[in-house]
Amino acid sequence: MKLCVIGAGHVGLVTGACFADIGHRVTCADSDSHKIEQLSKGIVPIYEPGLNELVQKGRNKGTLLFTRDLGGAVKDSDVIFVAVGTPARHDGRADLSFVEDVCRQIASAMESYKVVVEKSTVPVKTGEWVKHTLELNNVNNCDFDVVSNPEFLREGSAIQDFMKPDRIVIGVENERAEKLMEEIYAPLGARIIVTDINSAEIIKHASNSFLALKISYINAVAEICEFAGADIEKVSAGMGLDGRIGQSFLKAGIGYGGSCFPKDVLAFIDIAGQLGCDFELLKVVEKINRHQRERAIKKLQDVLWILNNKTVGILGLSFKPDTDDIREAPAIYIINKLQKEGVKIRAYDPTAMENAKKVLSGITYCRDAYEVAEGSDALMILTEWEQFRELDLAEIKKRMKTPVIIDGRNLYDPAAVKGLGFTYMSVGR
Ligand code: UGA
Repeated sequence: MKLCVIGAGHVGLVTGACFADIGHRVTCADSDSHKIEQLSKGIVPIYEPGLNELVQKGRNKGTLLFTRDLGGAVKDSDVIFVAVGTPARHDGRADLSFVEDVCRQIASAMESYKVVVEKSTVPVKTGEWVKHTLELNNVNNCDFDVVSNPEFLREGSAIQDFMKPDRIVIGVENERAEKLMEEIYAPLGARIIVTDINSAEIIKHASNSFLALKISYINAVAEICEFAGADIEKVSAGMGLDGRIGQSFLKAGIGYGGSCFPKDVLAFIDIAGQLGCDFELLKVVEKINRHQRERAIKKLQDVLWILNNKTVGILGLSFKPDTDDIREAPAIYIINKLQKEGVKIRAYDPTAMENAKKVLSGITYCRDAYEVAEGSDALMILTEWEQFRELDLAEIKKRMKTPVIIDGRNLYDPAAVKGLGFTYMSVGR
């Protein structure tokens, strides 16, 4: 089928490349001419394992095209996926202006029947606005259907998540759109859940918020473990083996970050409020999440007392491993806060330092964790990169001014690290 994906960001690019790989002809349209120029040459501007190969494959076969010409791409496609950004406004509400703008452009370009699919994460009722906007700007009076088809792609495993999804959610208003969507996804052989549009939109926000809730829950329990002298790793394992609870997203740490959970939790609280429902539970989830970062800073203060003029080494800047994404990364918040206290920061991350340079200043970036340790009063581990698990801690200790580790990701066995002479504080243990 001829598909168009509008917005060549993380979601749009992965979706487009994967659709091309399963047999469709895909045109990715984006207003950023630099990005389109790069992609047309085969340069992938984001870090996502396997994406580069998939983009080259699609380009070579001629099934994956890139353009700035949204109108042309719309005219030439049967189904149009909208995957533009829906960032949080200052009040937490999702900013839907890119979605609205793209819908106006689609409507003015349509010359025949089109299916317009919301792929971006949007609050419930957006489908109704999309339909209204398409109707309002439908200059050629074309027939169209609106569909909600939320994505559940994790950064770092997005291609695997696309190709082997737990489920595909399709929110439709009629059978015609449903059949087309089922045909598009048929090559994956995955389970498809068909709902109305409002329910599909809520499934996305409710899923991300529920995962965020699980994380905040286990982080709150971790704090109790610290006071009670219990071990959160054992508590998580004991809880997670109950099939009704499940082991995933029960890893205590310094809280969730990234471009999705923080934004989606706020947007779900906001739309619930607009609909007259006070989502108190999610407000607490959000509060607990912010508290984790403060707790990490407090632990540092509890050991170093005065922070002014101390040197702190930061291991990990991205919001999670296997990505260079620093959006809403706990590390960025913590570094900003420490710098305000007069702390000098040395930092290392395997992929995220270039992105960090765009938003942080006054940092000494290092070649590896050992260089970070050089002359540091304390180390803070803020992302659980695999390579940090395998560090030679005796060597790290030799290079530090004082042997202190604040581990926000529970990478090490506390007894072993303390045995090496470190003051070691982790989460919930
Ligand atoms: C998340 C969802 O997992 C995807 O299903 C969804 O499609 C995506 O958002 C989105 O809405 O686009 P992602 O943001 O890539 O994906 O990251 P996750 O792997 O879900 O991790 C989110 C955060 O939770 C990270 O900061 C991670 O460190 C934290 N986390 C995760 C924990 O603190 N503990 C855990 O046990 C699991």
